[in-house]
Amino acid sequence: MAKKTVEDIDLKGKKVLVRVDFNVPVKEGVITDDTRIKAALPTITYILNHGGKAILFSHLGRVKTEEDKAGKSLAPVAKRLSELLDKPVNFVSETRGKDLEDAISNLGDGDVVVFENTRFEDIDGKKESKNDPELGKYWASLGDVFVNDAFGTAHRSHASNVGIASTGIPTVAGYLMEKEIKFIQEAVENPKRPMVAILGGAKVSDKIGVIENLIEKADKILIGGGMTYTFYEAKGLGIGNSLVEADKVELAKSLIEKAGDKLILPVDSVTAAEFSNDVPTETHDYDVPEGQMGLDIGPKTVELFADVLKDAKTVVWNGPMGVFEMSNFQKGTIGVCEAIANLKDATTIIGGGDSAAAAEQLGFADKFSHISTGGGASLELLEGKTLPGLAAINDK
Ligand code: 3PG
Repeated sequence: MAKKTVEDIDLKGKKVLVRVDFNVPVKEGVITDDTRIKAALPTITYILNHGGKAILFSHLGRVKTEEDKAGKSLAPVAKRLSELLDKPVNFVSETRGKDLEDAISNLGDGDVVVFENTRFEDIDGKKESKNDPELGKYWASLGDVFVNDAFGTAHRSHASNVGIASTGIPTVAGYLMEKEIKFIQEAVENPKRPMVAILGGAKVSDKIGVIENLIEKADKILIGGGMTYTFYEAKGLGIGNSLVEADKVELAKSLIEKAGDKLILPVDSVTAAEFSNDVPTETHDYDVPEGQMGLDIGPKTVELFADVLKDAKTVVWNGPMGVFEMSNFQKGTIGVCEAIANLKDATTIIGGGDSAAAAEQLGFADKFSHISTGGGASLELLEGKTLPGLAAINDK
């Protein structure tokens, strides 16, 4: 990566501002998935071991009103971080002000403070999300250097990432940011071939940019998930009651035309009369009959996809193949996970969000070279877009 990293600056005795993505699921004060906190540990540990004073901050959820604040404090995150680091972590329940400034002044080398959800600044004029320059300037004034390790937020141009960086404070990437960019960017820009992309999920509209970019870069694109049926409609195949985005059918037609034999659609589907795990399932080649909806790719498609994948040297996957949360419709996603797990010498990358959740839930998480912690950020990177949070980091 041509960006400066945490290893390029002197941290000893410095007040180190660290933007992390601690946007984790919290239910009744309990963190239900701490992957993102664990993913930030290498950077935090490096800073502490090199005598930095770490000032950590993140957003959590979306906050528009005073009521939205409920359940969105970073306090449980600070507690979990303290357990993971096995050392005290001071939590300041403010995003600005004397308590925060005093807590920072009192930090010794190797100490950690976490301050409150940056989006609490959104209640009064969306200062964080609209990148209010005064807010970025204020946060920057609290530290000597800025480490941005929040890959999951890199597609946002907010005060707590781009705002701080644009004040001119030395700004470097953390290890997670570096690793995410390296894996995803290299897979897209400079892949070992053959490169196979697997794109699923409910909607074509979420993946248009990715398909368009990958048509140029991938050797094969395998399509699965609910968006299959918009492509089926474009080809004049029967879709029964399956999900279809009527306003994207023309676009699907043009993608099919542009991609030629690179684009591979499912050849069969597992269907049901209702979006439910409690009704009988059927399997149909191509056309889905009236009264049925396609909810997973079928066994012939799994075989076909496994055959395409067997020679792959780079695999990028984004979006499940079916409704994996229901046992009747998870075989397609499991089949694809298995095909990827069997690959030797391939770089295999799974985008964040639903696909990462599927791999975790189905027990395949350790079979991938890289599971991204970013949903929107990894998609935008796959689209070939410049991520503002990354662009704002100092070049080497
Ligand atoms: C994510 O969960 O994808 C990131 O933390 C970004 O969150 P946002 O979509 O609320 O900006």
